[in-house]
Amino acid sequence: MEIKNSKLAFIVLCLITFTLRGQESDVSDAHGHSHYVGHDSVAGHKLLYPSKTPDRVIANLSIDPAHSFAVNWRTEQQVDSGVVQIAVATDGPEFLLGEVRTISAKTQLFENQNSNEPLVKAAYHSAVISGLQPLTTYVYRVGHDANDNNYWSEWFQFTTAGTDMKNPFSFIYFGDAQNNVKSLWSRVVRNSYRQFPKVNFMLHAGDLINDRDANLEWGEWFYAGSFIHATIPSMMTPGNHEYRDNELSALWRPQFTLPENAPLEALKETCYTLDYQGMKLISIDAQAFIGNPEAREAQTKWLDSVLKGNTKKWTAITMHYPIFSTAEGRDNKELREGLKPIIDKYKIDLVLQGHDHTYARGYVENEGKGLTVVKNAGTVYAVSVSGPKMYDSKDRDWMVRRGEFTQLFQIITVSKDTLKYGAYTPTGTLYDAFDLIKKNGKKKLINKVPDSPTRLKKNFVKEE
Ligand SMILES: [Fe+2]
Repeated sequence: MEIKNSKLAFIVLCLITFTLRGQESDVSDAHGHSHYVGHDSVAGHKLLYPSKTPDRVIANLSIDPAHSFAVNWRTEQQVDSGVVQIAVATDGPEFLLGEVRTISAKTQLFENQNSNEPLVKAAYHSAVISGLQPLTTYVYRVGHDANDNNYWSEWFQFTTAGTDMKNPFSFIYFGDAQNNVKSLWSRVVRNSYRQFPKVNFMLHAGDLINDRDANLEWGEWFYAGSFIHATIPSMMTPGNHEYRDNELSALWRPQFTLPENAPLEALKETCYTLDYQGMKLISIDAQAFIGNPEAREAQTKWLDSVLKGNTKKWTAITMHYPIFSTAEGRDNKELREGLKPIIDKYKIDLVLQGHDHTYARGYVENEGKGLTVVKNAGTVYAVSVSGPKMYDSKDRDWMVRRGEFTQLFQIITVSKDTLKYGAYTPTGTLYDAFDLIKKNGKKKLINKVPDSPTRLKKNFVKEE
């Protein structure tokens, strides 16, 4: 009996040690160095390889989300064509008996091999489904039109945007997921959806993964979101980790379909704009902005021209690097000097950013912090993080709420005169909140910071 108990204790101890070893990376690294734990058997990992059945299915916002959306998925290369089937959703399976539209996808055979991974060959399929009705729920599935019925996705349910500001909409904004995405980001994206299942779209502010071409990391990102990626459309801006040596991940364009209204060919699907009901959304490719003078110049002029013609009441910009960093030594002067004058000129409402692996939210053009109501509000800047890699930050005058060592997602609800923002932890705890009220050309900000202490890393991790 005693031998059995000591054996059991040994096994339990081994399991705990193994689990903790798998999770310690990035959580305790204060210097930004990533020690991605990876997997013991990358070569055989099931998340790497495609099959005949579609995987990595994702819906993306198009430039006209009231009438269209884009969908991408992956199969093995023997499946060298694909289709989307779509119908108006019904209460029972009767949509199958009615009009089901079939749309052919574009298929691209693709292979890639990251340094520590085997070669992965896949067919990437993408389609833009247009001619849809606003505020309508559809069912769609992806597959190929072979007679074999086994190789289809399930029917996903998807709802289009409205055409005006009558109906409020909401979106969830995520900072960097980046590391241990399957292990530690899954609960964030899943609980964001659980808490706000009516959300209209999701926005990822870059560094979705750590290593731009690591197929397994992208596999983890798709695994974590699973059917949510196919049900709630998303938009994403690339971070420095989607780039290496100023080259974008070879997987970015095959696996996403984002608007192609960039000012340069090289910025297609990384720098773009789209309108969702009463809001203009803009993605700036911050890595290209910093790393490439031509891309900087082009994006600066483009942003000004996009905003000059803007008729939407609300405007949000997302970019990976923050205009105002939360920590010393992480300043992005070129970005601030290039873009802040334009952000100020057009009185942008929100700038949604990542990269600093901390949380901060505030404004710089007002009377400073400590006010609950700011009568003439300027631009609100937010930096957030959704994954487990955690850095330190410094308190700054512009910050209204700051936090470290906290995984967060933000839900932003936009109606005609009011924009409501709430930052939540994966357990559903509110960490920060504010409202913007815009009426008669005036914008009022009401801070609603919960009465809980600022979370600091030093309270959780002892510095070495
Ligand atoms: Fe980053």
